Amino acid sequence: MAAAETRLAGYPPLVFAGEARRLKSALALAAEGRAFVLQGGDCAESFADFTANSVRDTFRVLLQMAAVLTFGATVPVVKIGRMAGQFAKPRSADTEQQNGAELPSYRGDIINGPEFTEAARVPDPARMETAYFQSAGRLNLLRAFASGGYADLHQVHRWNLDFVARSPLAARYRDLADRIDETLGFMAACGIGSSSAQVRETEFYTSHEALLLPYEQALTRVDSTSGEWYGCSAHFLWCGERTRQPDGAHLEYLRGIRNPVGLKVGPGMQPDELLRLIDILSPSNEPGRLTLITRMGAERVRAALPPLLRAVRREGRLVAWLCDPMHGNTISTASQVKTRSFEAILAELRGFFDAHGEAGTKPGGVHVEMTGQPVTECVGGAHRLTEADLSARYETFCDPRLNAEQSLELAFLVAEELKVRRGNAAASAIAAQ
Ligand code: PEP
Ligand code: CO
Repeated sequence: MAAAETRLAGYPPLVFAGEARRLKSALALAAEGRAFVLQGGDCAESFADFTANSVRDTFRVLLQMAAVLTFGATVPVVKIGRMAGQFAKPRSADTEQQNGAELPSYRGDIINGPEFTEAARVPDPARMETAYFQSAGRLNLLRAFASGGYADLHQVHRWNLDFVARSPLAARYRDLADRIDETLGFMAACGIGSSSAQVRETEFYTSHEALLLPYEQALTRVDSTSGEWYGCSAHFLWCGERTRQPDGAHLEYLRGIRNPVGLKVGPGMQPDELLRLIDILSPSNEPGRLTLITRMGAERVRAALPPLLRAVRREGRLVAWLCDPMHGNTISTASQVKTRSFEAILAELRGFFDAHGEAGTKPGGVHVEMTGQPVTECVGGAHRLTEADLSARYETFCDPRLNAEQSLELAFLVAEELKVRRGNAAASAIAAQ
């Protein structure tokens, strides 16, 4: 373990502190409701699935979702992948049973292997170096796509994946892409730089749960520009629901770095406890520093979220609020397959928007587990996937993800919510004049 950490500590950082600062400024806008965050990717990235196609397909669905949100809701979108480093998983149970046999749980590819064998489940420190090199490879491709022409808004039609082109959503997306094309043509004709970097390139950031502290610590560096410490394994790091004890090691780590950081907030969180955690993670109340990612569950969001929103608002704490509509809505089918229903996911999102509307706070974004592949892991959506369909392409290494089509559908619905609420807010501002 120590040898692997020593080597990691000597390797180049994966991200530059200046990039993390840029993201922090963007998140400060999301906290004010002037930008919207789209954070998405696998629940657990897998060493076995280390291909250009898987990175590209997830990236392009995120681009599509961002286009829907930017154009549909006329709001700048901050794009953050749960990608290029999301390899460590917290588990509720220490062991896993299959066909009467019991083995230590799979904890993510950075720790042990997913195969149900004794050998695979032994933690192996060498996996941390594989995670580092895979993160570097994935990040390199993401950077190339983001600035090398793939993310050019003129390509908006080409981002459609073949199977989405056959979906009930295809016409809706094509219509949106046509309108974006027209707008770009109009801008060019007027001489408004449609060839500017804003149109030709995109900013894309990486993030993961800072769970495996020896790995994170080995990649923590002093930024030569500011003299401050940054976690350099990704731009944005968050603390999960299971490791957010106020005196725990994970908050202690995140407290010490200057990146923008996140905190998952589940339905059991009390207002006082949340304020205490905010003080630990964001003592100077710096805008953009802290993002709260709420994951309440569709049934509890309407009761559990408003008291937290009111307390944070009352105390003047500057945070961006994101909705993770996935982790509070995980269910098991009769045959013990983990799934999530698209309806429950949407219900939590609506509850999130309503709670912010009532509390007078700003919904800052969404955090979703999704993939560009046509998997069958969550039930519902435009194709009405049922429990019987799940076995067709159930490929996740941890939690069930939205497939490309469900992700796009979710983006259209969120764009609608944002548009309606902005319209309502504008109408009441006019009425109040
Ligand atoms: C996750 O984001 O994959 C996760 C485990 O979330 P939470 O900590 O909210 O349960
Ligand atoms: Co998950």
